[in-house]
Amino acid sequence: MTDKATLILDGTEYEFPVVEGTEGEVGIQGTSLRGDSGAIFLDPGYGSTGSCTSEITFINGEEGVLRYRGYPIEELAEEASFEEVIHLLLEGHLPNRSELSALRDRLARHAHLSEDTIEVLQALPPQAHPMSILQTVVSSLGTIYNDDDEETAMYRLLGKMKALGAAIYRRRIGEPYLTSDPDLSYAGDFAHLAFGSPTGGSEVSEVVETALNQLLILHADHEQNCSASTSRMVGSARSDVYASVSAAVGALSGPLHGGANQKVIEMLHEIHESDKDVDTFIEKAKDKSDDFRLMGFGHRVYKNFDPRAKILKNSANDLLDELGQDDPYLEIARQLEQTALNEEYFTKRRLYPNVDFYSGTVYYALDIPTDMFTVMFALGRLPGWIAQRKEMLDEEQRIHRPRQVYVGENERHVEPIEQRD
Ligand code: SDX
Repeated sequence: MTDKATLILDGTEYEFPVVEGTEGEVGIQGTSLRGDSGAIFLDPGYGSTGSCTSEITFINGEEGVLRYRGYPIEELAEEASFEEVIHLLLEGHLPNRSELSALRDRLARHAHLSEDTIEVLQALPPQAHPMSILQTVVSSLGTIYNDDDEETAMYRLLGKMKALGAAIYRRRIGEPYLTSDPDLSYAGDFAHLAFGSPTGGSEVSEVVETALNQLLILHADHEQNCSASTSRMVGSARSDVYASVSAAVGALSGPLHGGANQKVIEMLHEIHESDKDVDTFIEKAKDKSDDFRLMGFGHRVYKNFDPRAKILKNSANDLLDELGQDDPYLEIARQLEQTALNEEYFTKRRLYPNVDFYSGTVYYALDIPTDMFTVMFALGRLPGWIAQRKEMLDEEQRIHRPRQVYVGENERHVEPIEQRD
C-alpha cells in the first residue's frame, strides 16, 4: 500500500500520509488539509470518515468479523464471563485469576445504590421510559460522586450499573430493591437483583445466567458506533465519566441505534396482531412513501451478516427449548428474515439482520419488558463506552470539534420591524 495520497485542488497538489491498520484498513491522514488548502472533507454521517485509530475492537463488515482486542466474538460469547470481557476491553488482555478476582472485588464494592441515588430514582415518574430514567440517574451520579478521580468513577459506574438497571425494573413492577450478592457472577447478580424474591431463597437459573452473560458480551463494544463516539466526544472536552456515559445512554436510546431492539419486538407484535401476512410488511419496508422500516435489519458496517445476530439466533432457539417456551414472535422473525433475504430490495442494499433483530427475542424469552431491552443493551455496552473514552484520554486527543461548510445567507443587516414582511 502506498504511504502517501495526493489530492489535486484548483491545480495545486496536496500530499497526505496514509495509515494502514494491522488488519489492512487504510486511512488518509487528512489533518493538514484545512491548514494547507483552506478546504475540508465533508462527510455527513461520517460514512467515510474515521475519528481515531483504535486497538479495542475490529469489525470486518464484508466478512462478518467482530473481535475484541483480537479475540473473536464467537469464542468470547461461548467461553468468557462478562467480567473477563470488561477487563479485556479496559486493560487490553484477558485477566489471570488474581486480576479477575481483583476486578470482581472492585465491582462488588460499588454494587449498591446509595440513598441519594435511590431518592433521585424515586423522584422520577415510574411510567417514564427506562432509558430516560437511566440517563437521568447516571447523570446524577456525577452530582453525588463529584470528587471521583477518573478511575474511581469508571469502576464505580461499572459496579453500579447492574444494580441501577435492576432497580429501574423492580420499581416498574412494584417490587422492593434487592442487595447485590458478591458471590454471583455479573450476569447472575443482575438476574438476582432483577428477578429475585424479596424473601430470598430464589435461585438464579443457569440457563438465564448463561443467556444474560452472552447478551452482555455481545453488546460490550462495537468500535466507533453512535453512542461510543458520543462518549469519546463528550470525554474529549475532559467532562467526567458520568457526563460521557449519560450522553452515550441518550445516543443509544435512539430507535436507529440501541432503541431498535424494542422496535423489533413492537414490529413483530404488530405483525402478529395484524391480519396481514409477512409479505405485506416486507412491501411496506420497501415502499419509500411508507415510513415503516424493517427494524433490526441493515447496518452501516455489516454488509453480509452481523455475527452477533447469528449467535443470538441460535441462542434464542436453545433458550426457548430449555425454558419450554413457544415464542410466536420468533417464528415471525424467522419468516421475515427468510423472505427479506430473498428480496432484491434487501440483498441489493445489503440489508441483513443486525444484533437487534434477535436480541429482542432472547430478552422476551427472559421475560424482560420490551421497553427495558435498551437498558440491557446499555448494561452490556458500558465497558465499551468507558474503554473508548479511556483510549481517547490516554492518547491525550484534542477536543473533538468538527468543521462545516456554511450554505446560509450571506451578510445582511437588521431592518426595523416595520420594514419586515
Ligand atoms: C445498532 O453502529 C453500530 O455499530 C451500531 C450497533 C452497535 O453495536 O453499536 O451495531 C447497534 O445500532 C444496530 C442498528 C439498529 N438499527 C436498526 O435496526 C434500525 C433499522 N435500520 C436502519 O435504520 C439502518 O439500516 C441503519 C440505521 C442501521 C443504518 O443506516 P445507514 O447506514 O445510514 O443506511 P441508510 O439509512 O442510508 O440506508 C441505505 C438504504 C436506504 O435506501 P435507499 O435510499 O438506498 O433506496 O437502505 C434502506 C434505506 O432506505 N434501508 C432500509 C433499512 N435500513 C436501510 N430499508 C428498510 N428497512 C431497513 N431497516
